[in-house]
Amino acid sequence: MAFSRCRMFLQKYCSVLSPTSFREIAFPKCHWRPYCLAKLVSHHASYSHFQSTDRSFSTSSLLMLSTVTKELRKPYLMATDPETEAILAEDMLVFPDFLSEEEEQSLLNEVEPYMKRLRYEFDHWDNAIHGYRETEKLQWNVSNQKILQRVRHLAFPPGIPQIAYVHVLDISKEGYIKPHVDAIRFCGNTIAGMCLLSSCVMRLALEADNSRHGDVLLKRRSLYIMRHKARYNYTHEVLSQERSVFKGEVIPRDRRISVICRNEPEKLD
Ligand code: OGA
Ligand code: MN
Repeated sequence: MAFSRCRMFLQKYCSVLSPTSFREIAFPKCHWRPYCLAKLVSHHASYSHFQSTDRSFSTSSLLMLSTVTKELRKPYLMATDPETEAILAEDMLVFPDFLSEEEEQSLLNEVEPYMKRLRYEFDHWDNAIHGYRETEKLQWNVSNQKILQRVRHLAFPPGIPQIAYVHVLDISKEGYIKPHVDAIRFCGNTIAGMCLLSSCVMRLALEADNSRHGDVLLKRRSLYIMRHKARYNYTHEVLSQERSVFKGEVIPRDRRISVICRNEPEKLD
């Protein structure tokens, strides 16, 4: 049945608000649920708004609203507005402890001998990155192949053509990545990056209005998957050490290496 209960809830919800409407969304298996939750969040910044405007809400429905709102809230994400928050919660995923310390070391052991021979560049041809060196790597040892396989399996559905080369980007402690959107000619709808050596803050800003943005905490050893709207409609940047703050807390920046897998762009012919 295509017309699900959650969808029905949403239609009701948009015209009249009632505590029963809120209960309607509690259908965990409904495929409309994430969409409806996102709508809910984008309509209402906080449930205190309800308390002040609608005295008819029972405590239980208020509790329910705060629960569904929290469900979309990711601890690693802080956005300027609920709509941005909902979009990024869906299309910018972060797995904080994706790598063990041993796995991080194993990746470093394989890339470091090559990376350290390169010099950091402090101006990119297109000016997107400051203080970086990089390579694209095809061959990996067996342990690291297993890690990369885990990334690819999580990030890309079966049958999606992936770029075989893995991008390794090393930015110095003073380095940063300026706001940009990855070229649509060279990269498909999904970018999956592991973060080594240092935590950082990545800012995603709506390309059409950069006052609407979300900060994403990328801890050392995390994996992020940036896809769809987050990848196409938002610029991303890695903040410099002077600006590296998340929810008011300074996130110290050090040298950082990211190991990034991408899929192929769709062919247009
Ligand atoms: C890039 C980029 C992000 C990262 O190389 O285009 O945005 O995590 N990298 O290093
Ligand atoms: Mn990029």
